[in-house]
Amino acid sequence: MPPVIEIENLSIGIGDAAITDSVSFAVQPGQIYGIVGESGCGKTITALACMGMLPEPGGQLLAGQIRFKGEDVYSMSAERLRQIRGAEISMIFQEPTSSLNPLLTIQKQLAEVFEFHDFDGDPNQRIDQVLRRVGFSDPERILASYPHQLSGGMLQRVVIALALLLEPALIIADEPTTALDVTVQAQIMELLVELQKEEGCSVLLITHNIGLIAQYADRVGVMYAGHLIEERDVEPFLANPLHPYSKGLMAALPDVDSPRQLNPIPGQVPPVGKYPTGCRFRTRCEKVFSPCDQPVPDFSPEGDARVRCFLYDQQHQSTSAASKGSIQ
Ligand SMILES: Nc1ncnc2c1ncn2[C@@H]1O[C@H](COP(=O)(O)OP(=O)(O)O)[C@@H](O)[C@H]1O
Ligand code: SF4
Ligand SMILES: [Mg+2]
Repeated sequence: MPPVIEIENLSIGIGDAAITDSVSFAVQPGQIYGIVGESGCGKTITALACMGMLPEPGGQLLAGQIRFKGEDVYSMSAERLRQIRGAEISMIFQEPTSSLNPLLTIQKQLAEVFEFHDFDGDPNQRIDQVLRRVGFSDPERILASYPHQLSGGMLQRVVIALALLLEPALIIADEPTTALDVTVQAQIMELLVELQKEEGCSVLLITHNIGLIAQYADRVGVMYAGHLIEERDVEPFLANPLHPYSKGLMAALPDVDSPRQLNPIPGQVPPVGKYPTGCRFRTRCEKVFSPCDQPVPDFSPEGDARVRCFLYDQQHQSTSAASKGSIQ
């Protein structure tokens, strides 16, 4: 089976500025793939690009390809793209209200999905089934409600129901719990993962919170300033993150024994158009050494791991080890 979504060398620009540059990764059927990185790293732009959407105004595909189940998204007809969006790929955003119309009842909004897409079966039965499945024991009351009558957690459940209605192959969840209370966050994530397993779909989980990746994702892509700087299965990543930025993200995770001790990475993600040449992390990296102002290719120090850092270049290892100490 081809990957559900496959991104190859994706570069997206706005005007003259390249925002994402040479991003490549694939989401396999049934996989939860996590994209993590600080705010402004290009996660949302990459997620939207999977549905053939570019930033407005002025967004352009500078290079690369995105394939949905082997089909090139940017060569699709407008009709095919319309079919895919919301039916085969659905999205859950940070703010549930951004997916819902405040002026329409939940009933109307769920039913509308079936006006735009084909479905084999009884729409009302499917709505009832999915609402129950996301935890509503009284779907009738929810259906009669307007968005403002429901809490943030309830609204995000409605949005998950909306995303699942047409049995998509891929759900893109962009910071799905960031706007919710901490207790509700965990419930929503558990629900999403349970449903993903039941429905057998894939999830592209976008988050700035590496704790969510650690808990729920199978594979992870770390983004920094529009580059994908490390890509690996989650287990080995957690045991030994390779890229200095990934190590920094892990070190910034609250420690269970001393939850107050946080070690944020000093400095900030540079704004678009102000990226340093060579490694974009070099203005913040404590391991920076002589080759880092040159373009950095991907290196594969183990299995199918990829890391975009000269510390993993055989050629440079002696100089980096001598000047900066061991890379572990
Ligand atoms: N429509 C737009 N016009 C101009 N710049 C944009 C637009 N959308 C996003 N950007 C810029 O692109 C960068 C990446 O944005 P985004 O993908 O939203 O990051 P993330 O989701 O990782 O926080 C940010 O610096 C942001 O300011
Ligand atoms: S390439 Fe150089 S600056 Fe970039 S992360 Fe690696 S060591 Fe640091
Ligand atoms: Mg975002």
